[in-house]
Amino acid sequence: MVFDRAAGVRLTERARLVPIGLEHVEDLWCLHQDDAVAQWHGGRWTRDQARGYAERSSTAWETEGVHKWIAYDRVNGGLIGRGGLSHAEIDGQRRFELGWTVSAPLWGRGYATEIGQAGLALGFNELNATEIVAITERHNRRSRAVMERLGMCYSREILAEGLLEGQAGIHENAPFALYTIRR
Ligand SMILES: CC(C)(COP(=O)(O)OP(=O)(O)OC[C@H]1O[C@@H](n2cnc3c(N)ncnc32)[C@H](O)[C@@H]1OP(=O)(O)O)[C@@H](O)C(=O)NCCC(=O)NCCS
Repeated sequence: MVFDRAAGVRLTERARLVPIGLEHVEDLWCLHQDDAVAQWHGGRWTRDQARGYAERSSTAWETEGVHKWIAYDRVNGGLIGRGGLSHAEIDGQRRFELGWTVSAPLWGRGYATEIGQAGLALGFNELNATEIVAITERHNRRSRAVMERLGMCYSREILAEGLLEGQAGIHENAPFALYTIRR
């Protein structure tokens, strides 16, 4: 069965959340050119990285019926960011994972929290999730603050591929904070 993309669109108070597809490569690339965003993703994305992400997301929507959205301003159509819910292997288990990346000039306005709330609603109200998790590098305070604003609870530290505070590059065993919320 072909996934109905239009049915995957969600509206929040300020954003239109659209299932990521191949038509979003350019917007994903733009989002990841700002240094403030790039520093949390191992550098600026190349167009190939943006295309790879769009392909993986698009395939997941088709095969699993859920993955991340790209978020646009409902009024002026401007790019807000990306985020939402997806299946991910975390700490040896397949889980529902919530995430977000917001265009740097729009930080501090609650957009990540708004995208996160839509992801929680999708998981708990429509996909029958019993638990949703989020992870971020231990020192990513802004992302941890979003998790806490969403009512998620710190569970424990896990090691995953990512950033070490004060060091360049991606490391195999970086400390991540795991947050959870149950239905
Ligand atoms: C992580 C990230 C998405 C957080 O963005 P953010 O703007 O700090 O988070 P929110 O959108 O929830 O905004 C929260 C801020 O907006 C304020 N705010 C304003 N209006 C608000 C509203 N309606 N609702 C909630 N918060 C609101 C809050 O008080 C808070 O301000 P503060 O940071 O001064 O305390 C952003 O820093 C980012 O894109 N980082 C790079 C990518 C990244 O690290 N992603 C996570 C990887 S795991």
